Amino acid sequence: MAMLLLIPLLMFSISYSISPSEAFSSQPGICYGQLGDNLPPPKESIQLIKSLKAKRVKIYDANPEILHALQNTNLQVSIMVPNEIISNISSNQTLADHWVLTNVVPFYPQTLIRYLLVGNEITSSTPNTTWPHLVPAIRRIKHSLKTFRIRKLKVGTSSAMDILETSSPPSNAAFRKDITEPVIKPLLRFLNRTKSFFFLDVYPFFAWSSDPTNINLDYALFESMNVTVTDPGSGLVYTNLFDQMVDAVYFAMKRVGFPDVRIFIAETGWPNGGDIDQIGANTYNAATYNRNFVKKVMRKPDVGTPARPGSALPSFFFALFNENLKPGPGTERHFGLLNPNGSRVYDIDLSGRTPESEFRPLAPPENNVPFKGRIWCVVARRDNETALAAALSYACSQGNRTCDSIRPGNACFKPNSLFWHASYAFSSYWAQFKKIGGTCYFNGLATQTAKDPSFGSCKFPSVTL
Ligand SMILES: *[C@@H]1O[C@H](CO)[C@@H](O)[C@H](O)[C@H]1NC(C)=O
Ligand SMILES: *[C@@H]1O[C@H](CO)[C@@H](O)[C@H](O)[C@H]1NC(C)=O
Ligand SMILES: *[C@@H]1O[C@H](CO)[C@@H](O)[C@H](O)[C@H]1NC(C)=O
Ligand SMILES: *[C@@H]1O[C@H](CO)[C@@H](O)[C@H](O)[C@H]1NC(C)=O
Ligand SMILES: *[C@@H]1O[C@H](CO)[C@@H](O)[C@H](O)[C@H]1NC(C)=O
Ligand SMILES: *[C@@H]1O[C@H](CO)[C@@H](O)[C@H](O)[C@H]1NC(C)=O
Ligand SMILES: *[C@@H]1O[C@H](CO)[C@@H](O)[C@H](O)[C@H]1NC(C)=O
Ligand SMILES: *[C@@H]1O[C@H](CO)[C@@H](O)[C@H](O)[C@H]1NC(C)=O
Repeated sequence: MAMLLLIPLLMFSISYSISPSEAFSSQPGICYGQLGDNLPPPKESIQLIKSLKAKRVKIYDANPEILHALQNTNLQVSIMVPNEIISNISSNQTLADHWVLTNVVPFYPQTLIRYLLVGNEITSSTPNTTWPHLVPAIRRIKHSLKTFRIRKLKVGTSSAMDILETSSPPSNAAFRKDITEPVIKPLLRFLNRTKSFFFLDVYPFFAWSSDPTNINLDYALFESMNVTVTDPGSGLVYTNLFDQMVDAVYFAMKRVGFPDVRIFIAETGWPNGGDIDQIGANTYNAATYNRNFVKKVMRKPDVGTPARPGSALPSFFFALFNENLKPGPGTERHFGLLNPNGSRVYDIDLSGRTPESEFRPLAPPENNVPFKGRIWCVVARRDNETALAAALSYACSQGNRTCDSIRPGNACFKPNSLFWHASYAFSSYWAQFKKIGGTCYFNGLATQTAKDPSFGSCKFPSVTL
């Protein structure tokens, strides 16, 4: 199978030597997410991907315009079957055939489609009624590819780290009990049999930022010279958090009897910005993590991880662009290597060939320690009054006495403007709901501020950190 993935053209363009057993380059690819209303069109985006020297590109659907634009490029491509149709595909071969016929056949082989992910982080959030259908759907898609004589694709699904119940130390790691029998074991049996990969999303940022006092930041950024963590169970010594997370999955696979399935890093990266209440999301850390990751995977011979020394780690960075329509905390909209206008957030070369000394200097990080103080949630965009009015009315309908102060005659009624009333309502809403997971987002209409918007006798509620 190794040779199947080697496209002849590449043999001339790769300057380092690769061993014949290596089916793939370690040069990272990039996730081309499209959840933005200000992103360049596909043709332009693909030029940008090339200029970053990415080896591969992963999309979260099978967008025909993108697949068309990728024809006759050297970029290897990963496409995705959306979560919503997995259940139906799992019980209907005609539907699977139809999906492949519509989304793969027209583009193959001119577009180098090499990976087909059935679903994205299925076991993290989709209704658990979908879970038992995942592997049957994967098998049907694989069968369809065979029907159409398409053999170069590896089929799998991408998983987040929350597939593990315990992950530390790595030698003690185990898959979550609720998914081990219905999902993980049949999945691993399929991946092992078809020599595919376990596609894994690995974010040391989230692990570190949830426990920054006990985890060293340099350890999370591949920068640590003197911090090591020894796994008492295996005796293996770790010098960075990424290796520890990946090895946890290796040990969990071994525990259920599949020690040899290869891991493909389906996403990794570090946010270049975020909300005031989010630690460590800045350009300095993002550049440091991503550049060090390139160095790690491009080192020859391959370093692998302590549990699998010498193994190649194929990967995709998340993501190509900062995507302004991604919901959730601010970091979600700040994982891009590029701004929506195509400029770089910081210098990076995914081939690893540009010496660090040629990169422009980075602004020093300012939020590597937790924010202390008060934060308010105010209007960020006032260009859509209809949307703002709807958000105001939603916020006021939640919680206790959320909008009392902006009613006629009360302290914050004047100035009687949609902008001020919405800012008050967002702050009041968030002050009540942050503790139970409420966010300051409102579809992009709201943002956090450390500057007190209160005036006169009108006091805006705040969150204190
Ligand atoms: C799945 O199939 C059912 C029954 O044919 C249909 O009603 C439903 O719309 C389908 N769901 C999707 C997401 O296509
Ligand atoms: C399978 O999907 C095809 C195509 O959408 C549809 O025509 C057919 O009725 C489905 N079969 C079953 C058993 O649901
Ligand atoms: C889905 O979750 C519900 C509620 O937690 C549980 O009762 C049910 O057994 C789960 N179903 C599966 C297939 O895991
Ligand atoms: C995994 O695949 C290898 C090689 O095909 C095979 O020898 C082994 O038995 C498989 N492992 C399991 C647990 O099925
Ligand atoms: C590691 O080295 C840095 C810089 O020399 C130092 O500040 C830090 O305290 C050291 N940490 C440990 C755990 O030795
Ligand atoms: C592109 O966007 C970035 C971030 O918003 C901005 O700093 C930069 O000036 C923009 N560049 C151009 C050429 O518009
Ligand atoms: C304003 O927001 C609403 C959704 O709340 C949307 O339907 C509408 O298209 C938006 N209008 C403009 C001009 O963007
Ligand atoms: C609203 O008040 C009730 C009763 O005091 C309380 O149980 C509830 O948690 C409050 N809701 C919020 C969002 O604070």
